[in-house]
Amino acid sequence: GFLLGGATVIGAAATGGLPLWSSIARAGETPAPDIVDMLLRPGASRASLVSNPAIQTDVWAYNGTVPGPEIRIRQGQRLRARLENTLPQETTIHWHGLRIPNAMDGVPGVTQDAVKPGGSFDYVFDLPDAGTYWYHPHANTTEQLGRGLYGPLIVEETDPLRVDRELVWILDDWRLDDAAMIDSGFNAMHDVSHAGRIGNVVTVNGLPPGELVVRPGERIRLRLLNAANGRIFALDFDELAPTVIAMDGHPVTPHRDDAPLLLLGPGMRFDLVIDIPVKGKTSFAVMDRFYDGMENRIASLAVSGEAVRDGVPDWDMALKPNPVPEPDLDQSTRHDLVYSGGMMGGMVLQQMTQSGHITPEMLNRMGIEDMAGMGNMMRSMSGSGNVWAVNGRDPDRDGDGPLVTLERGQSCRLTLMNATAWLHPIHLHGHAFRLLARNDAPVNHQPWLDTVLIKPGERVEIAFVADNPGDWLIHCHILEHRVGGMSGIIRVL
Ligand code: C2O
Ligand code: CU
Repeated sequence: GFLLGGATVIGAAATGGLPLWSSIARAGETPAPDIVDMLLRPGASRASLVSNPAIQTDVWAYNGTVPGPEIRIRQGQRLRARLENTLPQETTIHWHGLRIPNAMDGVPGVTQDAVKPGGSFDYVFDLPDAGTYWYHPHANTTEQLGRGLYGPLIVEETDPLRVDRELVWILDDWRLDDAAMIDSGFNAMHDVSHAGRIGNVVTVNGLPPGELVVRPGERIRLRLLNAANGRIFALDFDELAPTVIAMDGHPVTPHRDDAPLLLLGPGMRFDLVIDIPVKGKTSFAVMDRFYDGMENRIASLAVSGEAVRDGVPDWDMALKPNPVPEPDLDQSTRHDLVYSGGMMGGMVLQQMTQSGHITPEMLNRMGIEDMAGMGNMMRSMSGSGNVWAVNGRDPDRDGDGPLVTLERGQSCRLTLMNATAWLHPIHLHGHAFRLLARNDAPVNHQPWLDTVLIKPGERVEIAFVADNPGDWLIHCHILEHRVGGMSGIIRVL
């Protein structure tokens, strides 16, 4: 059996004799100690995604491995990453969750030109925030992520948390055919208008779920990341009772989640602390129970060996906050984004209109005049010609400018309304936002996030300081929903 340890599985890939950028720097030039160089080469490779190791699946991968090499860097350091495109199509790299200059954000047509096959691009930026982040393409993302292009980016705290072991688990969901090859039907209309491309094989760090041997009394920091196109995981940790210490990379007051299952939508991350019990149960199963009656095992933990201590350590679990500017709620401007469309969306839009949360003015903005005409037509449900819409249009396609324009330094309060019958993990580039409320009820701990999962009919309130100039995407991270129009731009002047 293999070790599920991120450090083992991914770390091996990161040091597997890859040419670092420093080796192609001019002779005699010594890289500065506060700069990390990385060469990322997306291209064709093979991976063992299913339990029979004799079966290999053709994938696209960074430097030949799924996930791509782990980038581990300390807060405040600079990353210089060279992208060399060996794919048969254009690509870019987006650094999900990082607050970096707009020109480094990796969105083709918005922040840079896509990198042609055989071409390269140098990404250079400093890492202001510690935490669990990741990188992935932002060109033809449904296919490029769906074929295996993604990797972890871990920014270590200058004062690291004390634990016995650290793990990184990147969850993914693949749609494979009977020969274990990737189904090439990307952007199928059914996936776009329903829950996204849901697969049939779940992997952890690019491998089928396996067993991890742990010691009694061990304290583990688990960094969890969902790299799937569409699958939402609802994780059950058996009796392990994890403590949440960070969300989307940013520290949160250490707490036990009140919900029985930890909801992890595409793009989202959790940092957990797990203390393995000293006595009692010696095996635990981490399960995904998102779909009723269709559970997936994510990992088994087998407790064995001598106890590392005789109880729970009293080590501090609180991480130092990242230097994210606090929004001034009294001085903030308010905006709202109404998401509509998809299958069965008319009903939810109708309910939210009847309850008064969606005003006639909002409907008007969406180009919807009478509710009666909404019926079952997707077009009228979204208000645009597309499957999904934001404020009645598809800003990517309609091309008539940003959804919201903000002065630099301005505090912005944004209400996101999900007037659809589906869940959406809405992701904002270039900023972290505070999650203030759900359906007008203040949220516990008000975490800093870059991706917020919004349920059907739910209204979510977020706030942030628009301190990073440029055009920033705000889109659903169910990648097929973005293709169907669930995307737009927030412009910071
Ligand atoms: Cu992780 Cu716009 O993406
Ligand atoms: Cu969505």
